[in-house]
Amino acid sequence: MGSETALPIGVFDSGVGGLSILKALRAELPGEDFVYFADTRHAPYGERGDGYVTERSRAIFNRLIEEHGAKLMVMACNTATAAAIHLLRVDYPNLPLVGVEPALKPAVARSRTRRIGVLATRGTLQSAKFCALHDSLKGQADFVLQPCDGLAAAIEADDTEQVDALCARYTRAIGEYGSAPGQVDALVLGCTHYPFAETHLRAQVGPGVALIETGEPVARQTRRLLEAGGLLKAEGQGQVELLTTGSPASLRAAASRWLGL
Ligand code: DGL
Repeated sequence: MGSETALPIGVFDSGVGGLSILKALRAELPGEDFVYFADTRHAPYGERGDGYVTERSRAIFNRLIEEHGAKLMVMACNTATAAAIHLLRVDYPNLPLVGVEPALKPAVARSRTRRIGVLATRGTLQSAKFCALHDSLKGQADFVLQPCDGLAAAIEADDTEQVDALCARYTRAIGEYGSAPGQVDALVLGCTHYPFAETHLRAQVGPGVALIETGEPVARQTRRLLEAGGLLKAEGQGQVELLTTGSPASLRAAASRWLGL
């Protein structure tokens, strides 16, 4: 095994949301070591500007690459990917890099009514990257875009009452759910925090609506890049190191609650 192969994969988000991506990464790549960075003190990213999110993303890349030797970076945050991935690709031309974006294309493939709800942060929905994706799919489905101010923060704080209230408000704002023409039958979870509100969302939209997240495709893309670069560590049991600018105890509690770590 080459020495580079043994290096960890860096994963980051504004907070605990990226743990939903880390979960899929660990299932797909059980031999890999991960360094997960939650930028909790600077969250939420979704209600701040691109400049701020880009600056934070650069600082975190620096730290995970310089101090931890990350061999590949996963931006487990839709907002940061939308704001900064094109700039980071320029800063690190030789680094394998995976971003996340709201799963509009998989939603088109799943939806029968062709009416699709999209829950995401304001930053993601306003970004040029998202607008280009949305434009490229116009004509294939009607997308109802819903910015979800406060929802990532409520999930971050594990404030169940607030999560429930915001899930109710935002899903209702999208419209009616069901399989009849004009009804929404697929809901894109366009922020990596939202899979952790799945029970609240499911209670609002009912059993027949597809809730679409991005963990598995991101994990498969990560495997492809590792294989292409000869960087895959297939053997052994991978470890996870958790880092945060916030409370280490809260991050550990979330990782234990959601990933059994
Ligand atoms: N989890 C992030 C995303 O995927 C950002 C949430 C936030 O900090 O606003 O967009």
